[in-house]
Amino acid sequence: MENINFDYNYIKNILLHDDYKTDEKIRLKADEIRQKYYGKKVFARGLIEISNICHNDCYYCGIRKSNRNIRRYRLESDDILECCENGYNLGFRTFVLQSGEDFYFNDYNLCIIIDRIKEKYPDCAITLSLGERSYESYKVLKSAGADRYLLRHETADNEHYKKLHPYNMSLENRKQCLYNLKNLGYQTGAGFIVGSPYQTVENIISDLKFMQELNPEMIGIGPFIPHHDTVFRNYDAGNIQLTLKLLSIIRIMFPRVLLPATTALGTISPTGREQGIKAGCNVVMPNLSPLKFRKDYELYDNKICTGEESAQCIECLKKRIESVGYYLDMSRGDYIME
Ligand code: SAM
Ligand code: FES
Repeated sequence: MENINFDYNYIKNILLHDDYKTDEKIRLKADEIRQKYYGKKVFARGLIEISNICHNDCYYCGIRKSNRNIRRYRLESDDILECCENGYNLGFRTFVLQSGEDFYFNDYNLCIIIDRIKEKYPDCAITLSLGERSYESYKVLKSAGADRYLLRHETADNEHYKKLHPYNMSLENRKQCLYNLKNLGYQTGAGFIVGSPYQTVENIISDLKFMQELNPEMIGIGPFIPHHDTVFRNYDAGNIQLTLKLLSIIRIMFPRVLLPATTALGTISPTGREQGIKAGCNVVMPNLSPLKFRKDYELYDNKICTGEESAQCIECLKKRIESVGYYLDMSRGDYIME
């Protein structure tokens, strides 16, 4: 493989222009790097959407508090444990608990849930994705047994951040949360939306620079997809080619990172997740949420996999992954340390 002079000007050029030969060169380099560290493995994480109640009002998000047209739900701890049991029997060894910012899930309630999961499934990793919390809260949850935390920074540019969020949310706090999570020893996930309204190539470069500084163990990026009940209902969805190029660039810049082929990628294109895997992704996150609530966790329009049983989802994903020459790995799939 020819060496690539990978500086920010070069990256900007790749992002601004579609050139099949260059794009393919980048993709092959990303694939080579991923195989060096992770072989042909694609790790599975069982996603449990524990509540769609949120006190935030992000302009792009379908479950934002101003959306009065969705049915709100919250899972009880017994329901969450049932999802884990179902997932464990299907072979999952990582559970991702994700929700809007729902005050019901205070430290006390969450510690009970984490404790129950860890007691029953000590061989499993717990990833939380519950939004911005205090340093103390992250600390307590870590002590209770949480291993990883996903918190996309969404955009690293302050002006852009203000165009996507109401005045009471701040990029500074979001970044601080990420540094707190890193300091507390979580495997930490940052990330951003590709093609969000008003995003420029410079914004994306700021995202990459911020992540180089943070050095996260996980990075989640996916295309923007409009939701009909949000401020951005009439904006265009993010571009798949741009998302795929960014996935490869991220793999090259962060060789050992855990990088999911997201549901949003599978929503904008029927083969989006397969293409994501070919571009350097090494994680998939099938849904373990109860079927009766799946449609209520609608972050964007036409979200896929809301009607299938978890067992069906995993079979479908397994085939998709194998169709591009990789295989589904059900182990905990921790970050490889240096
Ligand atoms: N509340 C938690 C938080 O803020 O991190 C987790 C849930 S939040 C819904 C998960 C992610 O969904 C966000 O970080 C955002 O990037 C993504 N998301 C929300 N709306 C989206 C949209 N319309 N298109 C693509 N991604 C979206
Ligand atoms: Fe709260 Fe999206 S606005 S999860």
